[in-house]
Amino acid sequence: MVTEYGAVNLFGKSIQERVVAMITIAHPQFREELFEKAKKLGYIGPERNLGEAARAVYPVQLESTINIDGEKVTIRPAKPVDERRIQEHYYSLPKEDVLSRFFCQKTIFGRPEMESRSNVDYINDLTLVAVVGEFGFSKVVAVAESMKLKDINMTEVAFSVSKEYQGKGLGKIFLKKLAAAARANGVSGLMAYTFPSNKAMISLFKTLPYKVKTRYEDGDLILSCKFNELA
Ligand SMILES: CC(C)(COP(=O)(O)OP(=O)(O)OC[C@H]1O[C@@H](n2cnc3c(N)ncnc32)[C@H](O)[C@@H]1OP(=O)(O)O)[C@@H](O)C(=O)NCCC(=O)NCCS
Repeated sequence: MVTEYGAVNLFGKSIQERVVAMITIAHPQFREELFEKAKKLGYIGPERNLGEAARAVYPVQLESTINIDGEKVTIRPAKPVDERRIQEHYYSLPKEDVLSRFFCQKTIFGRPEMESRSNVDYINDLTLVAVVGEFGFSKVVAVAESMKLKDINMTEVAFSVSKEYQGKGLGKIFLKKLAAAARANGVSGLMAYTFPSNKAMISLFKTLPYKVKTRYEDGDLILSCKFNELA
């Protein structure tokens, strides 16, 4: 189903997922009302929250597809219906990648946290996902998150790419899209926290066409760049 506010594939989804998906592509003005009605009718669990997706307009211009080893990979902004798939992606990460991404041996990726990844406003918070697989059986193989730090007008970015898809360009595509979105929203630059030993993340950040600054904070490396300072 396609509207001017986005598109969803409803095949293979539960009733609850279908209802949430349809509400998120309705005109933003009607989403909250539709959501509350669907809850009253029992289509959506009382614990569900539409969050920022109530007002957000899906940025379709950030969608693209690439081919990795003969497989079609779709890169696109996350939607509320991606909550479970993002959670499954995090649970599938090897311990060392969980540590690199979250700076601790996190073992629980709870629902409220996942909701904050998938229910985004696409301006202050933007999550991108890379998805493979047939309609209705798709799997998230990489997630890029970004959050605007309002006090310094910078956007913090963080990534996790499934092991078998690492080194195949997904990080670079994510970073380019997040930089373009941040620039378009008037942000001055990007920053990322990483371990000083994370060569892949440091190399990835340095693929940006901007001057990269580094500093240390409590043993972590902070990478940053400003959009008005070309490398
Ligand atoms: C870091 C990470 C996001 C990189 O994503 P990716 O999709 O594998 O990266 P890409 O394939 O787009 O590669 C980007 C650049 O980094 C370089 N690179 C990738 N892996 C590398 C590695 N292991 N060592 C050194 N450089 C590496 C590539 O050469 C490429 O540069 P190039 O195009 O100029 O050659 C990914 O490895 C990952 O998810 N790691 C686990 C979680 C993590 O560390 N997150 C970062 C902290 S938030």
